[in-house]
Amino acid sequence: MSSLRTNLALAGRGIKNYVTKRPFCVSFEITYSCNAKCKHCHLGGPVDEERAAPEKYAEIARELNPVVAQISGGEPMLRRDLTDIIRMIKNPNGTPYIVLTTNAALLSTEKYYELKEAGVDGFSISLDFPDERHDDFRGVPGLYNKIQSLMEDIREEKNKGIALSGVVNSQNFRDLVPMAQRALEWGVYMNYSTYTWLRTDKMEYMISKTDMPAFKEVIANLLAFKKRHKNIYTSDYTFKNMIAFFENQEVPNCRAGEKFLVVNPDGSLSPCGLIIKKYSSQKEIKKEFLETNTCTACFTSIRANSEKPVKYLILDSIRSV
Ligand SMILES: C[S@@+](CC[C@H](N)C(=O)[O-])C[C@H]1O[C@@H](n2cnc3c(N)ncnc32)[C@H](O)[C@@H]1O
Repeated sequence: MSSLRTNLALAGRGIKNYVTKRPFCVSFEITYSCNAKCKHCHLGGPVDEERAAPEKYAEIARELNPVVAQISGGEPMLRRDLTDIIRMIKNPNGTPYIVLTTNAALLSTEKYYELKEAGVDGFSISLDFPDERHDDFRGVPGLYNKIQSLMEDIREEKNKGIALSGVVNSQNFRDLVPMAQRALEWGVYMNYSTYTWLRTDKMEYMISKTDMPAFKEVIANLLAFKKRHKNIYTSDYTFKNMIAFFENQEVPNCRAGEKFLVVNPDGSLSPCGLIIKKYSSQKEIKKEFLETNTCTACFTSIRANSEKPVKYLILDSIRSV
């Protein structure tokens, strides 16, 4: 399979889904169990849940036909059948683009290559601080060093397909440039998402009015870093709305359920990872949820990337060439 053919298939799918109002991204949250206890998240520890078989996720992927399939959770690497799930979701023409979102606590070098071979196109590895403060924030001792040693092991790999993903909040916003610097040193990309209080109700992780001038300066520095080193995925559109979110505590016109949606561990559907429901089809979500959705309380990466206007889709792809 040539990557040109895959890229054309993905672009075709993107245009078709845009016109037919089908999702750009579907997040398969294959377990709500997690091996971390993150300060910004309500998940953590084991969850007694019904889990669908890999064949069921593959069937849903074919039905929804997203451009991007995110495999997430909880911690998706806790599923022993993860490799099968990825193999079954991947089509022979290379679609969809599969991103594994993980805290990397279980990501050995061997597992990294196994998952890549199975069909993972991108690894989104969570990183909230550019040093051992990450371990404390995630409740996983030694996690930062574990990630660092994986990066050293695969240093020579040309096509790493890795982005570090940091959730911007009041505790780490002064470290956003050092995080991008760390990604540069490790030869990988950096992506930023925006904190939401919807998981934990903790308002103290929102950036305060007093800190906004300092935060805006950090974003200006990040934009300069992005231009210079080209290793930051985050769109200028996302940075602009991230500032608006912290300033106004809202970004209106959420398109959850249309541009993106979530598959729960048991194979039922939710409009997003923060509003868990048990819908049986996207049609049902459109009927029961979309018309009445007034939620404005997040601007996470999945929302930002799925709702990005065409102008930015074009600008971002030109910049990435
Ligand atoms: C729920 S985790 C699941 C995947 C995996 N366990 C991980 O940590 O990457 C998916 C992403 O959500 C982010 N996240 C958790 N709580 C959040 C919050 N309150 N606001 C925004 N993003 C959050 C995590 O940092 C992670 O990047």
